Amino acid sequence: MAKTIIISNRLPVQLQISNGDISAVPSVGGLATGMKSVHSGGDSLWIGWSGLTDEEIPEELIPKIDSALAEHGSSKVNLTEKEVDGFYYGFSNRTVWPLFHYFLEYSEFELDSWEIYKAVNQKFADAILAKADNEDTIWIHDYQLMLVPQMVRAERPDISIGFFLHIPFPSYEIFRTLPWRREVLQGLLGSDLIGFHTYDYERHFLSSVRRLLGLEVSFNDIYLDDRVIKVDSFPMGIDYKKFSDAAKEHSQRTEDEKSELQKRLDTHKKSAPDAKFFLSIDRLDYTKGIAKRLNAFEYFLKKYPQYKEKVRLIILAVPSRSNVPQYQLLKREVDELVGRINGELSTVSWTPIWYFYRSMPFDNLIDLYTSSDIAWLTPIRDGMNLVAKEYIATRTDKTGVLILSEMAGSANEMNESLLINPNNFEQIADSLFEAINMPEEEQISRNTLLQKRLERYNVEKWANDFMNSLVNQKEKDQTYRSR
Ligand code: ADP
Ligand code: G6P
Repeated sequence: MAKTIIISNRLPVQLQISNGDISAVPSVGGLATGMKSVHSGGDSLWIGWSGLTDEEIPEELIPKIDSALAEHGSSKVNLTEKEVDGFYYGFSNRTVWPLFHYFLEYSEFELDSWEIYKAVNQKFADAILAKADNEDTIWIHDYQLMLVPQMVRAERPDISIGFFLHIPFPSYEIFRTLPWRREVLQGLLGSDLIGFHTYDYERHFLSSVRRLLGLEVSFNDIYLDDRVIKVDSFPMGIDYKKFSDAAKEHSQRTEDEKSELQKRLDTHKKSAPDAKFFLSIDRLDYTKGIAKRLNAFEYFLKKYPQYKEKVRLIILAVPSRSNVPQYQLLKREVDELVGRINGELSTVSWTPIWYFYRSMPFDNLIDLYTSSDIAWLTPIRDGMNLVAKEYIATRTDKTGVLILSEMAGSANEMNESLLINPNNFEQIADSLFEAINMPEEEQISRNTLLQKRLERYNVEKWANDFMNSLVNQKEKDQTYRSR
């Protein structure tokens, strides 16, 4: 029977070794959390990196690792420390990630890491080729694997290949600064279908294809030799039911069933019923605008001092890519800002910011979403931002306000939230004021519309749309070739 092979750098779980034994923890990030829901429903195989380098894995644990991954329908690509350095910390996260998020000044263009990126992409392609039958469908994900489509196509000209980019595709003026820009485009064009979160990213990509490769583009079809490749936008949804069901279950918990975190949140709510919780959840990444948000919070309290002791900002930042210098600097900056603001503004009974630097289990994530009056998500640039969608899905009584950056892909579908420019502190402070004072009926009417849309266009629908489009494109391509 034909199967779907999902391939991404991250698997749905990350393996860790402690006390000589293996444990699997869920991967964080939009790609893993979104695709996990798709993967658990069907007959797919997921190929990716386990999160451990070859040097970290004792030989006797290899069978255990393979069976731990098999439990999650997954199979691993082995990477050495040098490969992880050049491919993951290097080209993926020191070149492509900053460049595609418009942080041009952070981008490093190093030939060595490009060479390793190519070699590792070939490893992923080989892993697919080893498992794939000709009638299978290959779904390749994200910026770490942009050369894989063409590498697979070269060996299996007729196989069906889809590619989805989970981050923005930048404008031509930014993309053209990449020394290996043509190779990257050629790599992607091995696909039959290339998907983006938004129409803007799709347009930027088509413009680069036209200007850098001089190919014929008609609407969203690209003609390359005897092939036709489709480019389209598919805004990724969430597993809506999972989040709304979890929130409903939480609302029915007895005191004994509640988590420690929930009890602590409840105690604070009871002691100050008028107080408002602002919530921000992100990986600790410079694209997420965490430092700016802290400065904006301070600005808000200066502009509206009546809210001192009445609001609290909960920041959950998940450790991410901590071997990359920019992430280390950001960690220091956020630590210092939180320390300084809390030091200057705290009173005996009030700490303005609660800062958690860790990953949290799903259950605690739901506690935070359901207990917060305002979700405040202000990335400087973000491919989608699923956290915004998850917050809305957990608001079972439809109250709550979402303040969202215009620079997040999800802003296109979430017009009923308060949209802000993350660089405009005046607008942010006024939006926080508006959110605090928004009448409940208005919150309910905004969230009703948002919830309906998110429930309809959930992650399953997103994946089905992509897959159906891939099937149609394959037929179109075959007709074109046999003309
Ligand atoms: P990105 O993909 O850039 O990290 P998204 O907002 O699209 O940003 O996705 C983040 C995903 O990671 C969400 O699905 C969210 O639930 C999950 N997540 C975020 N923070 C945590 C955390 N502290 N613990 C566990 N999961 C988290
Ligand atoms: C974003 C990227 C994913 C990545 C995730 C977490 O969502 O689009 O490809 O997996 O961040 O980052 P990490 O580097 O830990 O995989």
